[in-house]
Amino acid sequence: MGRLAYVNGRFVPHRKGQVHIEDRGYQFADGVYEVVPVADGHPVDENLHLDRLEYSLSALRIAMPMRREVLKLVSHEVIRRNKLTNGLLYMQVTRGVAHRDHKFPKHAKPALVMTAKQTKPPGAAELNAGLGVVTRPDIRWKRPDIKSISLLPNCLAKQEAVEAGAGEAWLVDEAGRVTEGSSTNAWIVTKDKRVITREAERRILNGITRRVLLNIMQAEGYSFEERPFTLEEAESASEAFLTSSSNFVMPVTKIDRRMVGNGEPGPLTQALRKAYIASFAPDGSIQ
Ligand code: PDD
Repeated sequence: MGRLAYVNGRFVPHRKGQVHIEDRGYQFADGVYEVVPVADGHPVDENLHLDRLEYSLSALRIAMPMRREVLKLVSHEVIRRNKLTNGLLYMQVTRGVAHRDHKFPKHAKPALVMTAKQTKPPGAAELNAGLGVVTRPDIRWKRPDIKSISLLPNCLAKQEAVEAGAGEAWLVDEAGRVTEGSSTNAWIVTKDKRVITREAERRILNGITRRVLLNIMQAEGYSFEERPFTLEEAESASEAFLTSSSNFVMPVTKIDRRMVGNGEPGPLTQALRKAYIASFAPDGSIQ
């Protein structure tokens, strides 16, 4: 049995999964999503992801497609049927199917799709090289705290990063301060070893990896600040890294044309990657 997708109540072969042409997700990007890491067959920080799903849905006044406990059962079944060990679970909820009209339909039923994808954590060579990022103006709407499927500015920025030979784009607000990456949160470490990341106001997505890492840092006594940092600060930082469900904690070794520190992943970044991964895979099976 190959990959399976869950589409509105049915499990279907992944390549045969289909949604209606008048699904509002397709026509208006009227929907939200979650990407949940899966380790050893179990979703990581599942409740935090489901809390954020509920937050995004309620911000757009879309109902939960099913009760949380049922949603968990279905997602575990997606993981099981796909024999997923380590990878990502994707869930998307849209407002549903209705004749094309901007205002909310009266009777649409939220549409739910889930898929699972096996992924390979980066090898030693990739981790030692770290990622380069390019900086781009943040042209997104003013509610990136909602995990909306409307990701065009994010896709444009990522594509520009790839075309510039980089791995991610860091988005910069009107005041020259970094908001976050196109699909990751952005962090720097100052020369006096303070870890800085933007506070979770409406200009960024409050990453689950970000939140869990902040808790770890708090518990382990790291010194950190949640505040915006400027591009100049990023350029003179001693370390930089990014976080997300698909990257965990990933060193950033170049910002635009400048090396960060000596151009190698910093010691604090490496320690934080270890500590984050140990929070869900304490057996050392993931590096
Ligand atoms: N991206 N910021 C943005 C804009 C994101 O899209 C993401 C997640 C993050 C990190 O959030 P988390 O730690 O909860 O994954 C920050 C997912 C992985 C994606 O779009 O594929």
